[in-house]
Amino acid sequence: MSQFTTSSLRPVSEQVTDNTVYDADHDIWWNPDELFFMLKTSVNPARVSYFERVVRAQPSNVLNRTILDVGCGGGILAEAFAGMGMNVTGIDPSASAIETGRRHAHEAGIAIDYYVGSGERLPFADASFDYVSCCDVLEHVQDIDAVLAEISRVLKPGGLFLYDTVNRTWLSWLFLIKIAQDWKRWAFMKPNQHLYHRFIKPRELRAKLILNGLTNRNTRGMVANYNILKTLYWLRKRTAGQWTFRQLSTRMVMREGRDTSLCYMGWATKD
Ligand SMILES: C[S@@+](CC[C@H](N)C(=O)[O-])C[C@H]1O[C@@H](n2cnc3c(N)ncnc32)[C@H](O)[C@@H]1O
Repeated sequence: MSQFTTSSLRPVSEQVTDNTVYDADHDIWWNPDELFFMLKTSVNPARVSYFERVVRAQPSNVLNRTILDVGCGGGILAEAFAGMGMNVTGIDPSASAIETGRRHAHEAGIAIDYYVGSGERLPFADASFDYVSCCDVLEHVQDIDAVLAEISRVLKPGGLFLYDTVNRTWLSWLFLIKIAQDWKRWAFMKPNQHLYHRFIKPRELRAKLILNGLTNRNTRGMVANYNILKTLYWLRKRTAGQWTFRQLSTRMVMREGRDTSLCYMGWATKD
């Protein structure tokens, strides 16, 4: 009985994150006062420069190579790939996120093909893409094994899979579950936006990649560039109404590093 919670009769291991937050009726991605704009200001700097280094180190020219961004949300990472000269397709189950992504790309004059759909059932033929990315998504999906199988299927042989996700450690529990969601004094996410048991250890992800014909080539940490006391002070300013995410986002910036205990990114090749 201990693996059941009182709020649900589903075993904890089967509970999924609350993804309704992505279905907002307004732009939650490109407005600097919204949480998800922090994907651009706080998360993109580390992951985009890492992925750009990885793709530019490949023997083939990156220009006009095809990339599918699985779980693209409002297109914050998809537009960065377009900026590298790639031919980008984005897919996400949230129709409102896709609408926001389409509108933003159109207004910015960026050509991206957007689709509504889930990572568990990608509406693309086998071996369609040179690259597939799936960032800040694997910890939200219903069935990670199905998503990785689909990513591998649509990748060309020798193609690259680029990812980032959250590790399952005491630090991610403290920061992303307790501080970010549960403790209202500091919380900046909705309850169940993340679930601890959905976080993935790097070795678990590597094993799942192998099962799907993908070989992990590198793993790097995404490290918080700020200490916990300062973070609590800043977060409190937001919950007290003195700051919006705009002020937070200039301070809470992640950087690439060796420490994978909070979040990590990496890349794998399709065998
Ligand atoms: C935190 S956002 C990340 C958005 C984007 N990848 C980025 O990093 O800027 C998580 C996204 O995962 C999407 N998502 C949730 N379940 C999914 C699934 N089964 N397949 C694909 N995407 C999913 C959500 O709709 C949401 O847009």
